Amino acid sequence: MIKAIVYNSNTGFTKQYAYSFATSVGLPIYTLKEAKKKLNKNDKIIYFSWIAADKIYKINEAKRYDIAYAAAVGMNLYSDELIELIKKRSKFENIYYLQGGIRWRMLKPSQRIMMKLILWMLKRKNKKNKLTDDEKVVLDRMNYGYETVDLDSLKFLIEWYNNQKELVA
Ligand SMILES: Cc1cc2nc3c(=O)[nH]c(=O)nc-3n(C[C@H](O)[C@H](O)[C@H](O)COP(=O)(O)O)c2cc1C
Repeated sequence: MIKAIVYNSNTGFTKQYAYSFATSVGLPIYTLKEAKKKLNKNDKIIYFSWIAADKIYKINEAKRYDIAYAAAVGMNLYSDELIELIKKRSKFENIYYLQGGIRWRMLKPSQRIMMKLILWMLKRKNKKNKLTDDEKVVLDRMNYGYETVDLDSLKFLIEWYNNQKELVA
């Protein structure tokens, strides 16, 4: 039985998804830090976190619990290749991708540098006319910042959770 939602959010997008999900299914919700006091090792959880460098942030820490699903929030557009890459980098299979945004003003200085580097690489590729259509969208979003939380996209995960409950009952 799933005990709780555990989440990690840097600029707030993941937090919004995680809280909306927790409210919909009626599960307690903890940050990764709070979870250490509230949960036991190997308790079953759903882990919500953002993506950094194609990996689910702090998934290795979260693996002290039994992660039934990891909901990964990123700025890139969904594609099967992207999910395969995130699975490989995170060494985890059950991944559900959610579209996040970009809040430049909330980034820590080191994160801002990393994001500026990604932006610079996209711009360089753009100058050579080598960007894919998806990358063009990301470049645009990175240039101007991007606010989105599509709560409807949680539907599948909510259905999956409700099916799990029925299986246990
Ligand atoms: C340093 C850094 C690296 C990132 N790398 C990726 C990435 O590889 N893929 C991606 O889709 N998003 C990447 N992002 C974007 C975040 O995942 C995105 O902004 C997400 O919505 C942040 O969620 P949060 O508001 O919960 O922190 C990166 C962001 C930062 C700051």
